[in-house]
Amino acid sequence: MEASNFPYDVTDVESQVSNEIFKATKPLPLVYVGPKRYIFPEMYKEWGPQFYNMEIRPDDIFLVGFPRSGTTLCQEIIWLLNNNLDYKKAKSIPVGERVPLMDFSLVAFGGETFKNNNSPVLQKLEPYVHKLRTAPSPRFIKSHLPLSLLPPKLLDNNKVVYIARDPRDAAVSLYHLMELKYLKQGTSFKEFWNNFIAGRCVVCPVQSHIREGWEKRNNPNLLFLSYNELTRDFPSTLKRMATFFNKEYTNDQIDELCGHLSFDNFKNNESVNRSSTYHKLGYVNNENPFIRKGKAGGWREYFDDEMTKEADRWISEHFTDIDLGIDPK
Ligand code: A3P
Repeated sequence: MEASNFPYDVTDVESQVSNEIFKATKPLPLVYVGPKRYIFPEMYKEWGPQFYNMEIRPDDIFLVGFPRSGTTLCQEIIWLLNNNLDYKKAKSIPVGERVPLMDFSLVAFGGETFKNNNSPVLQKLEPYVHKLRTAPSPRFIKSHLPLSLLPPKLLDNNKVVYIARDPRDAAVSLYHLMELKYLKQGTSFKEFWNNFIAGRCVVCPVQSHIREGWEKRNNPNLLFLSYNELTRDFPSTLKRMATFFNKEYTNDQIDELCGHLSFDNFKNNESVNRSSTYHKLGYVNNENPFIRKGKAGGWREYFDDEMTKEADRWISEHFTDIDLGIDPK
């Protein structure tokens, strides 16, 4: 890839910073990307420009969000709304195949694992960007990359849903997802959180990621959603999403969709709960499943008074003007 096709500097994360990160996580070479200094595994050097320059088709639909923001739920919604609510097909094909996370290998926090491991499960998860080239249209594509690292003309013609979640809940959820494989044993949530808000975590800084989505909220091709509003009021959010995709569904159809998406149904739905793949990869187990609690505001159980105050300050510093649907309590 020619340097001129990719406008960002990619620089190695200083050892002082990575040492801080590695107090909590297992060592992995990391890089900063661009002026916002997003952190990714070193393999971004090879793949980042490919994502940025990927060929998009006019009918591609994208879903973008920071990890653990309710993106799997949105994958299922987006696919169903655009496929005539075909539950039968949805049940028979895993959501990760219907709406692939194109940058899975990059954001799976242990990119190196994928480079050197020959297991068939891992090979299947090689960057979807290659697979996507030959996939039939319309393609539904999920990405955890911030908007600025996706193709620059994406919003000119393509529909994009951006889902944001209260970073405190996303951090708790991410902590549990990283716990088994990437965090050092005994890492407390407090240590993880301190790194997280300092931007010392893969895909961080979360505040820049969300702000990029928020800044495009008035673009007619982008629908900005929050996890809190979605889960607080499924029917009206689903209607908004249907309208965004120029689809019409009756109230009964929306009710049926709400039932399909309800947390308990989702948790037991093999085509969305990732239980087989992620169990094999060792990310999750029965005590620590991928579809975990499904609550807005669950973070309160993890924050002591001092952390709560500090987090309030951090939230007001970065998110006062952004509607994350947080209940004022
Ligand atoms: P928790 O860990 O807080 O439970 P992502 O899919 O982006 O990784 O986000 C995962 C989060 O979305 C998890 O949060 C998961 O439980 C939650 N989630 C998934 N399906 C859900 C549903 N049907 N209703 C509510 N929350 C859901």
